[in-house]
Amino acid sequence: MRPPPEPYRIRAWEPISVPSREERRAILERTGYNVFSIRAEDVLIDLLTDSGTGSMSQNQWAALMRGDESYAGSRSYDAFAAAVESVLGMPHVLPAHQGRGAEHVFFRAALEPGAIVPSNAFFDTTRAHAELSGARALDLACPEAVDTRSPYPFKGNIDLDRLEELLDGPNGARVPFVLVTITNNTGGGQPVSLENLTEAAVLARSRDKGLVLDIARYAENAWFIQQHEPGQGERSVAEIVRSELALADVALMSAKKDASVNIGGFVACRDPELLERLKTQLIIFEGFPTYGGLAGRDLEAIAVGLYESVDEELLAHRTGQVAELARCLEEEAGVPVVLPPGGHAVYVDCAGLFPHVPPARFPAQAFACELYEAGGIRCVEVGSNMAGRDPETGENRHPLLELARLAIPRRTYTASQLDLVVEAAADVAARRDEIKGLDLVWDDPASPALRHFTARFAPVRVSARASR
Ligand code: F0G
Repeated sequence: MRPPPEPYRIRAWEPISVPSREERRAILERTGYNVFSIRAEDVLIDLLTDSGTGSMSQNQWAALMRGDESYAGSRSYDAFAAAVESVLGMPHVLPAHQGRGAEHVFFRAALEPGAIVPSNAFFDTTRAHAELSGARALDLACPEAVDTRSPYPFKGNIDLDRLEELLDGPNGARVPFVLVTITNNTGGGQPVSLENLTEAAVLARSRDKGLVLDIARYAENAWFIQQHEPGQGERSVAEIVRSELALADVALMSAKKDASVNIGGFVACRDPELLERLKTQLIIFEGFPTYGGLAGRDLEAIAVGLYESVDEELLAHRTGQVAELARCLEEEAGVPVVLPPGGHAVYVDCAGLFPHVPPARFPAQAFACELYEAGGIRCVEVGSNMAGRDPETGENRHPLLELARLAIPRRTYTASQLDLVVEAAADVAARRDEIKGLDLVWDDPASPALRHFTARFAPVRVSARASR
């Protein structure tokens, strides 16, 4: 079946071009085989992230002109807070310059050193902020999450048995709250079911703990609930979004994802006392509570983006685009991907593609570089490079999966451009036996959890015979 066509037309365009294959090889060498160091102009199709890279709607562009740039009490803050209340049902909200600004402010106000925060999976900056506050960030993904072939539709779920064991065990008192990321970005963009969220909330509440949601992709999560969760098919995405958020004490948001803006984020909560503590941190690190590091016009664009985020035609097209890319990568390019496809990205199973490349040679980083060389396509590694080093031991961490994420910016690339991605991936797959992986040449000792932005690599140069 054909995926749903684009429910929009394009009225502004941006030229793109790409250097030759030989030039791309030289660029990789110059940039230490780190795709974050490649200039965007040297990329043909940029699937590095879906964060802040999408197109805004005509209503969002129009809203920018309404921006009230007053320092305090701006009209744009009121429009923003009204949208948060109406779409998400959260009564209090503070803007921040982006998601990690909100994480910083919240974790500083809510975490003590020695705390343990369980989660289905932390996003990398969220983990870094929890660790910066002296807490331990614990991933408790459900068992299906690591089986890349399991068709289970809610692989983003938190493992409720392990959560219960932790809460009732000797370390239970150290847990201030449970954090659930919807959708689970690190684990393949996989959704969390409403049933799992509800049970996590019940478990947390019954032990006097809070539930914090990282809601960067709440609307995509709700779309999957509507499509696949028994009893939810008749409800609108807007209603399901409100059910998700009704379970949360606190929500952390990067508006660069489902609110479709280029910059912005927020922290929303229910408790007025927590709000006051957050404000104190916000004023120091982000800005006055009614602008929080953003321009008034950004707040207006976020407000419109929140209302538009629950548009089911847009969600059907977007998730259809992702699913179609996943299908073509598997069936036409012979590249294994995490199934079922998630909401915002296709994740290539690089350990499956390069079984001869061990984790210490960064198979997913190697795939990202090969894809750039093959077609000027940029994606991001989510494997042993991104996992960083253990802050206590300094050892390289090796996650259970070695993935490369091809994130689709919202309403930015056409179907024929995604065909080029499939062609480039087929080129890599055809050369899989020659690909030996990468050696880590340098990583920043000051940034063990976020080294992937700056680490440098070099290709492993061993003959096929010697590597056996
Ligand atoms: N939480 C999740 C689930 C995220 O995916 C991100 C960002 C953040 C928090 C932090 O938000 O970037 O606005 O500071 N993810 C981007 C990505 C960077 O590429 O997936 P931010």
